[in-house]
Amino acid sequence: MLSTPRLLFRQFTPADLDQLYREIYSHPEVARVMSPTGTISLQQTASLLARRLQHWQRHGFGAWALIHKQDQQLIGHCGLHYLADTPDVELTYTLNPAYWRQGLATEAGRAVLQWGFETLGLAQIVAVTGPSNIASQRVMQKLGMKYEKTMQYNGTAALYYTISCLEFDPNETPVEHSG
Ligand SMILES: CC(C)(COP(=O)(O)OP(=O)(O)OC[C@H]1O[C@@H](n2cnc3c(N)ncnc32)[C@H](O)[C@@H]1OP(=O)(O)O)[C@@H](O)C(=O)NCCC(=O)NCCS
Repeated sequence: MLSTPRLLFRQFTPADLDQLYREIYSHPEVARVMSPTGTISLQQTASLLARRLQHWQRHGFGAWALIHKQDQQLIGHCGLHYLADTPDVELTYTLNPAYWRQGLATEAGRAVLQWGFETLGLAQIVAVTGPSNIASQRVMQKLGMKYEKTMQYNGTAALYYTISCLEFDPNETPVEHSG
């Protein structure tokens, strides 16, 4: 298990589906980033959750459920997964909009990069986002990731950022490990 000053990371369970859908993924500002149609259904969220659990089983790593320590609420996800059809490992994150702009995605992302480099032994981690997703680009930049190229992803242009284990600086937000 990982934790940071404000966040606990735990495994998702099928029981998270309702809250994940209702409070986070179906929110219009989240759905417009997650889905080309701008909306996401309960069924699509269920498939996504199932794929997340499957990724952990197949590869031994994946996306964590983020719990806000102060109010004990599930507020989103952050973790690592294979970028579709590539050997690249991608940093992924999404938060409930009620918790945006407090530095929480950056805090979570830093903990996950540290886990990826120090525990999983990865040499490089990538992140991909749309050109209009300024918040996500800012998170990548604050984590020390560098823009490398623009690529096609799911049929649209996407900015591709990378960071190597040598470039990563874990010192800005200490990560507590337990278990
Ligand atoms: C991307 C996301 C996870 C960021 O979460 P967050 O906790 O608000 O992120 P942080 O607070 O750590 O940092 C956000 C940064 O973006 C900036 N930002 C946010 N919205 C912005 C906007 N519209 N224009 C300019 N800057 C913006 C914030 O000011 C902050 O930068 P700063 O610290 O330099 O001021 C959140 O916006 C989200 O869940 N978005 C929808 C899903 C998504 O985009 N996921 C990523 C897919 S690649």
